[in-house]
Amino acid sequence: MDQNTPSTPSKMTRPGGNLRRKMIQSAFYLSLFTLAGISFLLVTQHITAEPIKQAEKQVLLKTIDQILPTTQYNNDLFTDTITVTSPDYLGTTDPVTIYRARFNKKPVAVIFKVIATNGYSGNIEIITGIYQDGTLSGVRVLKHRETPGLGDKIETRKTDWVLGFSGERLQPDQKRYWRVKKDGGHFDQFTGATITPRAIVKAVKTALDFYQQNGDRLYDSTQSN
Ligand SMILES: Cc1cc2nc3c(=O)[nH]c(=O)nc-3n(C[C@H](O)[C@H](O)[C@H](O)COP(=O)(O)O)c2cc1C
Repeated sequence: MDQNTPSTPSKMTRPGGNLRRKMIQSAFYLSLFTLAGISFLLVTQHITAEPIKQAEKQVLLKTIDQILPTTQYNNDLFTDTITVTSPDYLGTTDPVTIYRARFNKKPVAVIFKVIATNGYSGNIEIITGIYQDGTLSGVRVLKHRETPGLGDKIETRKTDWVLGFSGERLQPDQKRYWRVKKDGGHFDQFTGATITPRAIVKAVKTALDFYQQNGDRLYDSTQSN
């Protein structure tokens, strides 16, 4: 045979054939690992969801004990609840649980979360207790991302600033009362950190406004909005 005669096409190695096979293999393994990763995450999420929920409930229970002594009510707060949705007052579009405290069935206080939406580092989750006469039984911060050494003075572990809300109420004839001192109001700010306390004072005030709007209706067994 002539040395220059080309071999038949079937015996020729197709250019790029190996490369394509390798690419398909890589894509297959990549998909497999991604799928395994997603499955692992979903399983972990499923396993940890309940313990996280329980831990959060424990924190909530302990915090509620701090803002309303258990001696002041004798009903089960966790079953005597309603849910409300009030973004303008409560800082969230999510439904909010209102825990109702009663002594021998008589209204004592309501406890509910409110979100301060304008903290230095985003939302600050607060819990407030309000006696039936509109006086604050207490306020605590549940979650925040404020700066350590500046905005985190809202934690009781750091300072007792937040304890100053207990016993406060709306002051109808003093428009500026519910502001930090720097803005002409009653509440202290922190040195070099006004944004965080300003956000909390505003949120606690709107929680009181919410209570004033709804009042005793919050103790009804029917759903409120
Ligand atoms: C890195 C950094 C972190 C800060 N973190 C906070 C904070 O968590 N809370 C806060 O109120 N101010 C924080 N500040 C200070 C604010 O920017 C602001 O200067 C301060 O709140 C005073 O506000 P005013 O000028 O309205 O009084 C931080 C500043 C810097 C540079």
